[in-house]
Amino acid sequence: MEDFLPIKGTDHVEFYVGNARQAVHYYRTGFGYANTAYSGLETGNRAAASYVLEQGKIRLVLTTSLTPDHAIARHVHLHGDGVAVIALAVPDAEKSYYEATKRGATGAIPFTEVTDAYGAFRYAAIRAYGDTLIKFVDRSDYRGVFAPGYQARPGFEEWGEGNGRTRHTGYGLAHIDHIVGNVELGAMNRWVDFFAHTMGFSQLLHFDDKDISTEYSALMSKVMQDGSGKVKFPINEPAEGKKKSQIQEYLDYYLGPGAQHIACSTSDIIATVTHLRENGIEFLRVPPTYYELLEARVGKINEPIDKLAELGILIDRDEEGYLLQIFTRPVQDRPTVFYEIIERHGSRGFGKGNFQALFESIEREQALRGNL
Ligand code: FE2
Repeated sequence: MEDFLPIKGTDHVEFYVGNARQAVHYYRTGFGYANTAYSGLETGNRAAASYVLEQGKIRLVLTTSLTPDHAIARHVHLHGDGVAVIALAVPDAEKSYYEATKRGATGAIPFTEVTDAYGAFRYAAIRAYGDTLIKFVDRSDYRGVFAPGYQARPGFEEWGEGNGRTRHTGYGLAHIDHIVGNVELGAMNRWVDFFAHTMGFSQLLHFDDKDISTEYSALMSKVMQDGSGKVKFPINEPAEGKKKSQIQEYLDYYLGPGAQHIACSTSDIIATVTHLRENGIEFLRVPPTYYELLEARVGKINEPIDKLAELGILIDRDEEGYLLQIFTRPVQDRPTVFYEIIERHGSRGFGKGNFQALFESIEREQALRGNL
């Protein structure tokens, strides 16, 4: 069957934040991103300031409002710092918008083409969970650093797509592996249907993708992916447990559904996490006992277990291979958005075997916040 909404990958993820200038410093010195482009008062943007950050193929945009009555300011007032836009690279933004809205998606930004000296930049957007937008971006005829209205930072003028760009490798974060959304109790299947019917995604059927509702996890999750498998959106909803679900804690502080975590891949998680830890990025800790029975659970792996234990990196295996992963603490004061760093060796799962150890760790932190 023809894919009515072909997707080339994740173009960028845009956060609305309270203070973009300071957040950029955290992403640069903590995570190793380069600030490649900027839009703000100096470039003629009177409403907002935006900073483009790049590492590997990952592109993040941090945006803040310059006035109190702007939609960006209201987003931050309500949600705190959070993901406002998930932008997908598509071959035809107009057709993507048409196909999705025809199937019931709510339009947010109609098809728009903006041109400048670097060519034509085309986009449109639909509404996803909560106040999150899914934006369709076609930059195939655009050679500028990011988008019209943005100015390249010194040293990054030649970085436009198609200009023989050299990627900033930073600490080895390479691409976005998946973006997880948290939705309200009872809403997971509605969003699974949304991605299936309006965007042509399919549910990633995997042995660990059954509903995962345990005493520890207190969540249910299903994974949706596009036709090419380049974009994966797991959807979580809280489940009844003995204690308050971590998903419910997120919903309470984000004041609604939204993106919970962004998983970034690396091909050398030990090197990446070593750098990030040195730079002050805080990660969740699992009890040392996690590593004692590890070999019996996951079998032989290439990486030294003592090194993984020292850094707090988790390991999971399924019939296709194994994966290494670690989760940051929330990256703002509200217990909402966080990052995952992941290195895959064959496994296409999401680390279900680590849920129990992780959730014990998350619950310890929830208890410290008085939210358990
Ligand atoms: Fe994940």
